[in-house]
Amino acid sequence: ATNKLLLLPGDGIGPEIMTEVKKIIGWFNARGTVSFETEDDLVGGAAYDAHGQAVSDATMERALAADAVIFGAVGGPKWDGVAYEVRPEAGLLRLRKDLELFANLRPAICYPALADASSLKREVIEGLDILILRELTGGVYFGEPKEIIDLGNGQKRGIDTQVYDTYEIERISRMAFELARTRSNKVTSMEKRNVMKSGVLWNEVVTATHKQGYEDVQLEHMLADAGGMQLVRWPKQFDVIVTDNLFGDMLSDVAAMLTGSLGMLPSASLGAPDGKTGKRKALYEPVHGSAPDIAGTGAANPIAMIASFGMALRYSFGLVAEADMLDKAIANALGKGLRTRDIAAKGEATVSTAGMGDAIVAELDAL
Ligand code: NAI
Ligand code: MG
Repeated sequence: ATNKLLLLPGDGIGPEIMTEVKKIIGWFNARGTVSFETEDDLVGGAAYDAHGQAVSDATMERALAADAVIFGAVGGPKWDGVAYEVRPEAGLLRLRKDLELFANLRPAICYPALADASSLKREVIEGLDILILRELTGGVYFGEPKEIIDLGNGQKRGIDTQVYDTYEIERISRMAFELARTRSNKVTSMEKRNVMKSGVLWNEVVTATHKQGYEDVQLEHMLADAGGMQLVRWPKQFDVIVTDNLFGDMLSDVAAMLTGSLGMLPSASLGAPDGKTGKRKALYEPVHGSAPDIAGTGAANPIAMIASFGMALRYSFGLVAEADMLDKAIANALGKGLRTRDIAAKGEATVSTAGMGDAIVAELDAL
């Protein structure tokens, strides 16, 4: 079967790193065991320049029809002045909303070749492979009321509201257990049930969902603040961490820094399985932004983008062997000492964006 990909390179380094993903897609197509059909479209500032919107209705339709969206990055100083509703970031927010992507997956993997570049000791992170699963469409970022009230006495009050319904916690819990089964079979749920009602409910629903056919998976609960501490102290104790939108935002950034550069970090955002086909809507993107400071210089590290495509292989297409191959090719390229500027030690030789992409393709050939 042909797998349909919508490629949205976006702005800044987005198009440069997407070019390297196209080499990888081309490699898999040439190999002949899988087949990807790609379509390119505009998003972010590039889309705003072309038709005044950060993502057009036509692009949105293509995204809904695709099996997976591969997204580069959006934004840059050029669009600093544009209206809030049409700013480049609005394109990504609309995609997430209209595709109903409620789960954000952020792996933190330590490549052996880069273990010494971490701020932590080698023994703490060598072999690290954990996955943070963050709830993405609920919680305090979206709950109502959300406002600033003028109290009239020179004081104002800022209000955000943490809201979670049972179904939202249940679907992310299911996903956590299912993901854990494909990994090391352990889920750690993090909340603050000691001080938050939504945390009490979170804990209850995760526990109840676990009893609905997931008892083969090991489940533990941790208060989110203690979890943050454990993440830095001994991250290898975790496999899948499932948590809400706010804690997930913070904990995934902390986990990211365990393993080094922004240029290395992939992510996936997944929706609910379709009632008929069982397929999930999905968007794959690097964690980093459009890096306007290095755009056009050939210094961008394409690994976060390429590894994001690897997550598409794994989570949208069930191509686990191919995803493992791609991860191995990345590890081998790093193992041979190839470094883009962001991951090079002082004085170490570097390769360009294209040089790194070509090296990963060569490593795929060599597997
Ligand atoms: P950024 O992630 O674009 O860059 C932060 C720093 O990391 C920069 O020094 C950059 O050169 C470096 N960096 C990022 N990706 C890299 C890569 N692949 N290889 C080598 N170095 C890399 O974040 P920043 O500077 O805060 O934002 C720049 C623009 O990107 C802004 O317009 C921002 O709104 C947008 N942005 C977009 C995101 C998205 O599309 N999902 C996410 C974050 C920011
Ligand atoms: Mg964040």
